[in-house]
Amino acid sequence: MSERRQLIIDCDTGTDDAVALMLAALHPALDLIGVTTVFGNAPLEATTINSISTLDLVGRGEIPVHAGLARPIVRSAFPSQRRFTADSADDPHGTWLPIERSDRPAASTKAVEWLIETYRAATQPITLMPIGPLSNIAAAVALEPKFAEWVPQLIIMGGGHEVGNETPSAEFNIWADPEAAASVFAAGFRDVLLVPLDATHKALVTRADCTALEALGTPAGIGAAACIQKRVAGYEYSQKMVVPESAPVHDALCVAALVEPSIVTTRRHHVAVEVSGELTVGRTVIDTHGRGRKEPNAAIAFNADARRFVAMLLETFAAK
Ligand code: BDR
Ligand code: CA
Repeated sequence: MSERRQLIIDCDTGTDDAVALMLAALHPALDLIGVTTVFGNAPLEATTINSISTLDLVGRGEIPVHAGLARPIVRSAFPSQRRFTADSADDPHGTWLPIERSDRPAASTKAVEWLIETYRAATQPITLMPIGPLSNIAAAVALEPKFAEWVPQLIIMGGGHEVGNETPSAEFNIWADPEAAASVFAAGFRDVLLVPLDATHKALVTRADCTALEALGTPAGIGAAACIQKRVAGYEYSQKMVVPESAPVHDALCVAALVEPSIVTTRRHHVAVEVSGELTVGRTVIDTHGRGRKEPNAAIAFNADARRFVAMLLETFAAK
């Protein structure tokens, strides 16, 4: 990229969201102009404070953080009990990140209003990257009929074709607010990249990588290492990966794919979201063989280059 790409991240910070924020805040090709938060990995208050703390840690405390929805757009809560309880041994996040907690307040404008007004006034392309439940994005689409048209590029972490994590058929971000996700995929965004578990489970980061990140001695290197170590511990406990002592850092792969698109391998298909059924709610239905006869509405990442991803983290976090 010749000039810095403007970017907004919508997140439920969480350990992998935190690494995504660090990468977006520090990568020289990106200009992270703001962050919006949503419930998900933890209640909204914690995801907001975690986002602010992450930006402060890496010296980017001037980036505004706008708090968004505290619950799904239709349901009063998740579709059912979560697979793990917060702060249990298999929780790869914990309510609070393993970094110093900031007391900087969130911006006074709420997330959905700020998203709509920012895109209304935009004079250059701003990528929108939701890496949590899609509630804020669905609310923006519902409130402003032109919102989808105004967003030039949407990069979503969510879903899974061969892999589920919250249930056998559903990935957490989509499952957490299935009606929101269904409306976003049906909204007509013109350039959608979906980064599902199929790709993120190929981009595993190991304990040895954490040692290398920590050895950088920078706030980002040390902070990212602490977050990823927590993930490896959680995954080792309950969902061991094919590479021993490793974990996916889902959300950060979206940022890497924005900077270097060839880090992921994609195919275009139609994606819809199932909103009902005890076993199927939250499933991304990816029509790999065109059975539904609908035009593709997204590029879907099915593979990723783990070593290039880790190299980008190391190089970016060495600098600050
Ligand atoms: C997604 O769910 C969350 O737990 C992670 O932060 C990531 O966005 C992975 O399923
Ligand atoms: Ca997330």
